[in-house]
Amino acid sequence: MTSLGELRRRTIGELTRPSYSIHSKDMILLNDNANLFGVNPVVDEVAKEFDFSRLWAYPNEDSDGLRARIASEFSISPEEVIIGNGSDDILDLTSRCFLNPGDTMCSPSPTFGMYKFYARLNLGRVCEKILSKDFSLDPDPILQEKAKLNAICQPNNPTANLFDRSVVKRILTEADGVTILDEAYGDFCGSNMLSDAMNSERTIDIRTFSKAYGMAGLRMGFAISRKEVIDELRRVRTPFGVNSFSEAVAMRAIEDKAWVNEVLAKVKSEAAYLKPRLERLGFKVYPTSCNFLLCKSPVPGPALVGALKTEGVAIRDCNMFPLLEGHVRITLAPRPMLDVLLEKLEKLTLGGK
Ligand SMILES: Cc1ncc(COP(=O)(O)O)c(C=O)c1O
Repeated sequence: MTSLGELRRRTIGELTRPSYSIHSKDMILLNDNANLFGVNPVVDEVAKEFDFSRLWAYPNEDSDGLRARIASEFSISPEEVIIGNGSDDILDLTSRCFLNPGDTMCSPSPTFGMYKFYARLNLGRVCEKILSKDFSLDPDPILQEKAKLNAICQPNNPTANLFDRSVVKRILTEADGVTILDEAYGDFCGSNMLSDAMNSERTIDIRTFSKAYGMAGLRMGFAISRKEVIDELRRVRTPFGVNSFSEAVAMRAIEDKAWVNEVLAKVKSEAAYLKPRLERLGFKVYPTSCNFLLCKSPVPGPALVGALKTEGVAIRDCNMFPLLEGHVRITLAPRPMLDVLLEKLEKLTLGGK
């Protein structure tokens, strides 16, 4: 009998799905950049009005209501918007739509691991161009690759920096293939490259409700691009891909940003609180344009991450990334959580001294 290993698609054996969430209510989860300042209050408001007795019905196939709301928010046409079950869904969709087996997906490295994962899953070849030591981006090696698909994360996860806008713009306008411009963390630094994305012919500007909007559990993301590109993506999108309650919440959230704006201010002030305290413990802390801090640990990174986990605090080990040996990523959170982190870190970094 043929083994399952032989039956499954050949690229799957070499794939390790990145694993982020540690689902324990007792742990402090500073490892996945979700919004630790809480659930967006519009969720409760919508829940009070939502007609749950209609959940027997399929949702609107393409989430037309939300597409219209997003279109009016960004002064574009609904035909330039596509909705996904989290922005991860759209990353998968993009690889599925544009990569034939063996086609190249090119991205800087280090960056968000799922670009590579979905490209490989969809039988693509991955080509990564290492960032400069200061995490700046050189557009030429990427452009020279003439890849079918490029992926740029702006600002970049996990390095936390915003790439030079003119450099990103060059990639968007000169790249031969399709470019994913992932602006998942743009809200945290006020960066928005939508007009550059729409000026280029083949950029897919990807957004999420999982970070600043505090709705990671509802799985909502969207992308904006020229109609011709969105039409291609819609050919391969699963019908009924997002549920009707999440759609209703997202429609409210995109309009009511009062809470999101409060979160953005708190993230900034908690970054200012945490940075000097980590530095006092011997960490090198990089500037951030996101809701997390990238730091070089004074003690071996993987061991620190493991020890913290047994103490009930999860942070992200970045040791496996090029340029980031010994580095860790810490999601910004309300003060009490950061104080627990600092107390544990003090014990683990200074304990033996
Ligand atoms: C850069 C980036 N893009 C996309 C995502 C996926 O977000 P979601 O699928 O929750 O929308 C993440 C999640 O961590 C991310 O860091």
